[in-house]
Amino acid sequence: MTTDQTSYAFRNSEPAAATQLAAIQGYLDDLTMRRIRELDLPPDGVCWEIGAGAGSVAAWLAEEVVPDGRVVATDLDTSRLAPAANLDVYRADVATDPIPTGGPFDLIHARLVTQHLAPRRDLVPQLAGALKPGGWLILGEFHCPTPPPVISAPTDADADLFDRFLRTLLGILTAKGVDMAWATRVHPAMTQAGLTGVHSITYAESWTGGTAGCRLYEANSIQQEEGLLRAGLTVAELNRVRALTRDRAFTAMSYPFVSTRGHRGPERHLVPRNGAARHDPAPDDAAPRDDLIVDQR
Ligand SMILES: C[S@@+](CC[C@H](N)C(=O)[O-])C[C@H]1O[C@@H](n2cnc3c(N)ncnc32)[C@H](O)[C@@H]1O
Repeated sequence: MTTDQTSYAFRNSEPAAATQLAAIQGYLDDLTMRRIRELDLPPDGVCWEIGAGAGSVAAWLAEEVVPDGRVVATDLDTSRLAPAANLDVYRADVATDPIPTGGPFDLIHARLVTQHLAPRRDLVPQLAGALKPGGWLILGEFHCPTPPPVISAPTDADADLFDRFLRTLLGILTAKGVDMAWATRVHPAMTQAGLTGVHSITYAESWTGGTAGCRLYEANSIQQEEGLLRAGLTVAELNRVRALTRDRAFTAMSYPFVSTRGHRGPERHLVPRNGAARHDPAPDDAAPRDDLIVDQR
C-alpha cells in the first residue's frame, strides 16, 4: 500500500504474546463486538480484519456473516490464526503489501495495529478507499501519552515503582515508533479521508492484581524486559512489578482504548467542491456536509 518501512514492537512468536493477546481479547472483545453490531452489517458482508493477532474478532465476524459473507484476516504473523469455511487467513504487512483479494469490504477493522505503523496517517485514506460504498472502517488504539494511573498499591514505594515501570515502558514503545497519541488523531484522519458519521469512544477500566487485565502489564514487562533493564529498572524491580500484577492489594487503570469508526457514504464519492485536495481538518460528518459535493460516478 505504501513503500514506508514498517515495524512492530512485539512478536506474536514469543511465549508472552499468548498472554498479551488473550488479555487484549478479554479486555476488548465485548466492546469491539458491540461497536460492530451497531453497524448492522449485511448478512453477506465482506470483512477485512487487519493484524488479527490470535483471531477472536476474525472468528466472531466469520460467524456473524455465515453462510453468505466472508472474512479475510491478515497479519504479519499468522501462526495464531486458523482459517475456517468463510474465513481466509493471509500473511501480509498492511503498510507495504497490496490490499488483499476479496474486497471491496463492508467492514475493515484493525485493533491495536495502526499506532505501531509509521505510515499510519496515509493508511487511513488507503483503507477508506478499500471500502464498499456504505462500508465502515473501525480503528481502535491505546491512548497513552501519559501512563495509566495506579489506584492503590501495598506501599507508596510499590505505587512509585509501577508508575516508573509504565513510564519507562511507554518510552520504549515510543522509541520503537509506536504513536501513543495517534488514538485521538484517527478521528480527524477519517474525516479528512472523506468518511462520514465519524464517531469515537474511549474505554478504560480498573485492573486489580490477579485479574485477566493485569496480565497484560505482566506480559508487556516480559516482552520489553531487555529495554526495561537497559533503561535502568533492575531484575528485582521487574520481579516486584510482576508480583504486583498478581496482588489483590494492587489496582491500576487499564490502558485507555479509543475506538473510532467512519462510514463511506453509500453510492457516492465525496470530492472537494473546488476540485482541490483537502488539507484542512473537516468537521465531524454525522451531519451532512455542505462543503462537499456528491459525485455519482
Ligand atoms: C497488539 S496485537 C493486536 C491483535 C488483535 N488485533 C487484537 O486486538 O486482539 C497487534 C497485531 O498486529 C499485527 N501487526 C503488526 N504490524 C502489522 C503490519 N504491518 N501488518 C499486519 N499486521 C501487523 C501483529 O502481528 C499483531 O498480531
